[in-house]
Amino acid sequence: YEVKWDAVAAEKGGYDHFMLKEIFEQPKALKDTMTGRLDEQKVILQEVNLTPEEVKDIRKVFIVACGTAWHAGLVGKTLIEHWVRVPVEVDIASEFRYRSPLIDEHTLVVVISQSGETADTLAALREAKKLGARVVAVTNVVGSSVSREAHDVIYTWAGPEIAVASTKAYTTQLEGMVLLGLYLAQTRGTMAPEQIGKVIAALKEIPAQAQKLLDQAENIKDFAQSFVKVEDTFFIGRSLDWNVAMEGSLKLKEISYIHAEAYAAGELKHGTLALITEQTPVIALATQMDVYEKTVSNIKEVKARDAKVIGITFEGNTDLAKSVDHVIYLPKTVSELAPILTVIPLQLLAYYVSVARGCDVDKPRNLAKSVTVE
Ligand code: G6P
Repeated sequence: YEVKWDAVAAEKGGYDHFMLKEIFEQPKALKDTMTGRLDEQKVILQEVNLTPEEVKDIRKVFIVACGTAWHAGLVGKTLIEHWVRVPVEVDIASEFRYRSPLIDEHTLVVVISQSGETADTLAALREAKKLGARVVAVTNVVGSSVSREAHDVIYTWAGPEIAVASTKAYTTQLEGMVLLGLYLAQTRGTMAPEQIGKVIAALKEIPAQAQKLLDQAENIKDFAQSFVKVEDTFFIGRSLDWNVAMEGSLKLKEISYIHAEAYAAGELKHGTLALITEQTPVIALATQMDVYEKTVSNIKEVKARDAKVIGITFEGNTDLAKSVDHVIYLPKTVSELAPILTVIPLQLLAYYVSVARGCDVDKPRNLAKSVTVE
């Protein structure tokens, strides 16, 4: 009797695909990434060796990355500008390289890269160093080129990510942005310790809240069946919700080949609304309560064009159900941390739609996990 041993199946640990396994690993990845870095009212980033004077000397932050990591950078911009009150630019690495960026020794450049080997990101890092900037890397791979060449490294402790579509790397990169933002704010004194303490307390809840969302994955699976024949879809939201909408739409495009566009909800009426019909499902992210009413107005605009709308908001917000066809509820957290939770149902949606359409989830056509050529 011969025991058949399938090494790949074994690595998937009982999951059908690496992507699903990695989605479900997020509570642990998020927990590991915060371990040892949180005091009651203080963030500890031992690997970042900036002196308080150097931190106070930063006049501009420049975040540079590609793909999903760039999307994490967009969230980083919103958080850092909000908490630290310093201007932040976010650039796609392949653009940054060739547009003579305005950088000097007062600029903090943050490169984000899961693999730490993306050619354009690495070249951007080198360019930034040449121009005299201090470079902090946020990466998932110890010993990667980016980790070796940056001045300081904040590791995401997501563990190996095999599926081409990034999931746990993204949410831990978001966490990296939160940690960096709080670190800069505490050093520059732009946030009171109690304020920082409030975000830290909320951050500690995130792994369990992510688990709670994953426990309801079956609901998303059922719901995903209605997307099988869809050809176009829109993801809308304002502020941080818009940043997450971009990642949600990328996930769906990458692995299910459904055309998806992410739009700042307020921008729809400047042209794009014309593309929305009853055939176009709209996923509306509505977690940012400071702009909630505005988002609801934009939802009404798409409803008026007969679109089917799926809303995402926090538990307890019963108002949204009045304006949309279906609501996905998230455990309550502070608005700055919402992206880490909001993206989880979007990852699951992309995954289940891809499976239902018979696509190769882990190895989508024409995409590579790590792009080491320009
Ligand atoms: C590739 C992958 C994306 C990834 C991007 C950046 O295009 O398909 O999922 O976001 O590279 O990769 P990095 O390793 O630098 O985060």
